[in-house]
Amino acid sequence: MAMPRIFLVLILYSVALRFKGLVAQKDAYVPVDSILLNCGSSGDETDSDGRKWKGDVGGKIDLTSQSDVPVKAQYQDPSLPSTVPYMSARIFSSESTYTFQVTPGPHWIRLHFYPASYSSLAASDSFFSVTTGGFTLLHNFSAAITAQALTQSYIIKEYSVNCTTNSLNITFSPSADHPSAYAFVNGIEIISMPDIYYSDDVRLVGFEDQLIDISGNSFQMMYRLNVGGQFISAAEDSGLSRTWYDDTPYLYGAGIGITTAASKKLSIQYSTDTTIYTAPVDVYSTARSMGPDPKINQNYNLTWNFQVDKNFTYIVRLHFCELQYNEVNQRVFDIYLNNQTAQESADIIGWASSKAVPVHKDYAVMASDADTLWVALHPSVGMKPEYLDAVLNGIEIFKINDATGNLAGPNPIPSPLLPDPVADDSDSSPSGNSGKKLHVIGGAAGSAAVLGALAFCVAVYYRKKREGLGPDGMTSGASAWLPLYGGNSHTMGSKVSTISGRSCTSSHVSSMAANLCRHFTFQEIKQGTKNFNESLVLGVGGFGKVYVGEIDGGTQKVAIKRANPSSEQGVHEFQTEIEMLSKLRHRHLVSLIGYCEDDNEMILVYDYMAQGTLREHLYKSNKPPLSWKQRLEICIGAARGLHYLHTGAKYTIIHRDVKTTNILLDDKFVAKVSDFGLSKTGPGLDHTHVSTVVKGSFGYLDPEYFRRQQLTDKSDVYSFGVVLFEVLCARPALNPSLPKEQVSLADWALHCMKKGVLEDIIDPQLKGKINPECLKKFAETAQKCLSDHGMDRPAMGDVLWNLEFALQLQESSEDGKASTTDKSGAPGLFNELNNHSSDGVVGVEAMMNEDASTLTSTEVFSQLISPKGR
Ligand SMILES: *[C@@H]1O[C@H](CO)[C@@H](O)[C@H](O)[C@H]1NC(C)=O
Ligand SMILES: *[C@@H]1O[C@H](CO)[C@@H](O)[C@H](O)[C@H]1NC(C)=O
Ligand SMILES: *[C@@H]1O[C@H](CO)[C@@H](O)[C@H](O)[C@H]1NC(C)=O
Repeated sequence: MAMPRIFLVLILYSVALRFKGLVAQKDAYVPVDSILLNCGSSGDETDSDGRKWKGDVGGKIDLTSQSDVPVKAQYQDPSLPSTVPYMSARIFSSESTYTFQVTPGPHWIRLHFYPASYSSLAASDSFFSVTTGGFTLLHNFSAAITAQALTQSYIIKEYSVNCTTNSLNITFSPSADHPSAYAFVNGIEIISMPDIYYSDDVRLVGFEDQLIDISGNSFQMMYRLNVGGQFISAAEDSGLSRTWYDDTPYLYGAGIGITTAASKKLSIQYSTDTTIYTAPVDVYSTARSMGPDPKINQNYNLTWNFQVDKNFTYIVRLHFCELQYNEVNQRVFDIYLNNQTAQESADIIGWASSKAVPVHKDYAVMASDADTLWVALHPSVGMKPEYLDAVLNGIEIFKINDATGNLAGPNPIPSPLLPDPVADDSDSSPSGNSGKKLHVIGGAAGSAAVLGALAFCVAVYYRKKREGLGPDGMTSGASAWLPLYGGNSHTMGSKVSTISGRSCTSSHVSSMAANLCRHFTFQEIKQGTKNFNESLVLGVGGFGKVYVGEIDGGTQKVAIKRANPSSEQGVHEFQTEIEMLSKLRHRHLVSLIGYCEDDNEMILVYDYMAQGTLREHLYKSNKPPLSWKQRLEICIGAARGLHYLHTGAKYTIIHRDVKTTNILLDDKFVAKVSDFGLSKTGPGLDHTHVSTVVKGSFGYLDPEYFRRQQLTDKSDVYSFGVVLFEVLCARPALNPSLPKEQVSLADWALHCMKKGVLEDIIDPQLKGKINPECLKKFAETAQKCLSDHGMDRPAMGDVLWNLEFALQLQESSEDGKASTTDKSGAPGLFNELNNHSSDGVVGVEAMMNEDASTLTSTEVFSQLISPKGR
């Protein structure tokens, strides 16, 4: 069974991918050289961005090596954005050199590393150097240590070098200081680039009139951020194959300003100095500014900070585009780099001469003894501008090689991100994963297993929110896709106290969590809930009451959970939830916006989930029934959220209270797992369980957990199995009013399956609408989840894969294309997906249309409760 799974996953990827790759871009750059080498693979393969990679096995690749071997990774981390180029690698046990034929001129070199275990070699044993021309790109590099420190599964290193001849050598050398060291690489990109970095001399900050000439140098790209905007993938960058990340993880302090986006009417007008190659439209059409209140703005710096390697000089490139004002001296600000003035009185209109015209400015800064690079903006009060404000659209930071041609820094020092891990953390290197059995899951395209603070390679969902015209034709940048970083979802013109958190030294919340999410005053909360008006109560739980409320002057709907202040229990769960949620973020986890702990209150503010709980869409309400496909998609989403909790972070996080009221649905019916109040970080490598007081909800409780008070991630799997049957049968997990043998859904469903009469108990609304193969797969999956012993239950990743498979079976039968006579199911699906790009694309479009119609059917409702809708 293992092999077909892998192929199936590959096919699913390439289908999803072709769809993205179709987006044609006008003015796209066409590089003279564009080499994408998929090391350790043969033939051509396409990655999840639709880019085509060439294998280095069996082709005409010039590789000089004494000992090298192509290998496949044994474990596929769910956070990998694509199997290509990460699931294959080439391993070198002695110095080896690739030679590429190139056209002279500047090139990007990108190296991709996925530190997994390859043919019984441990990822932690790999230490090596990479050199090209006279430059050292990496020295004694450990991809495993780097990945662990960044809590990423893979590493991309990007360099710019000027090739002066027709060939480019890249040499990999295992480190001599580690006896069994080997080198490896998963992918190499060599791509011609336009002359966008080398042109000017750059002023060195902190030295009067000192310019540095960077033309002969090589750079390493350290950070590339779309400030106030969203993730831009390599395929979306005008042919230049750069990736832009969002800036929130790098913001410092509580004063993080507000995000804004150009209105639809405003089109970006490139100039001759700053072209579409400098940065794409999406970078210039979104920005972060300080906010509408001049008094607040005068008292803080809008600040970002970046980890860098000591003893190097960095080029900081700032991208600006005025989207709001037309005149000079309307918005004027100072720019500080590492606490020194890099630019006084920056006036974008002064530079660009007009609104919507992009400009960029480069500054050089030395990081001699500090490993943090600070970028700060503050209004130039002395210039008396019309608005006391500052704004930034994008930032890139490049390291310049030193006098010896070196660009390599030391390996980072790993630091655990989660507080008080239950297990010891001595040996949980990422290679720990690789010892596990082969797990292939289909959902990798969507999940981002990256922890918040350092989230750097996050697959942020590209979802534009263009809504609600504000003053001056501006639209609000309500970035609901990033709510964990709290205060960024404000709207222009609202009364926002962006820095209210600064004065608060919190007693319950660690300073890290406090920095990561927003602090609300009790006054704001009282206003937002009309003084806790009972008519706004959404629900009452063990923790307290949940209200629907408004923040930012009524521009954002939120869910506000107010704890019963007298409960001691509450304090701990309050803390846990803030700590957990402020560091974890995932499309399928509910987002914490902020908290309030004034006057001994314990109040949590979450993104509002317009469609409420999964349960209320299943039974005991008058909501229209969900279709089977919707239910499958919701289960898949929830499974993905749980899978992320179990495997995405350094420590396994066990939810402990998985049930249909803890699976919430947003306005598009995307499932989000909520309620982490009971969560515990799970066992480390040497523990198989965590002993704990039994908590959770009856009807969902893992019998093993109940008997032995032992908690494992398989306890969540059990509860999720109950959820699956609940979704199928549309009845509560426990229903005491039924005959004794039917009270517990888990027992009753298993009983009916054994008797072969499961059909008799499924939701009557679904009768005849479920493809039999799909039902079989779904029920078998649920059944396995309910195995008596944790050991016999599948991991969440396997559950996810099986549910996705079930969805494929359902979809192919609904399309009427699958050979229904094919009992195994898989080959039919296989052929169909294999049957090529056009089919795949049609499938995707069909799905999107269906989404749209889902929306319309619920439109009235979501508009009623979420006036800001879309
Ligand atoms: C690259 O190197 C060549 C040869 O030294 C030089 O003529 C050219 O100006 C350089 N290009 C850039 C962009 O630095
Ligand atoms: C940086 O340079 C200083 C002085 O040249 C040296 O003492 C120090 O060890 C260097 N630090 C690193 C991290 O290389
Ligand atoms: C802003 O940063 C500059 C440079 O570090 C510093 O001198 C100034 O005091 C800061 N201003 C505020 C209000 O924090």
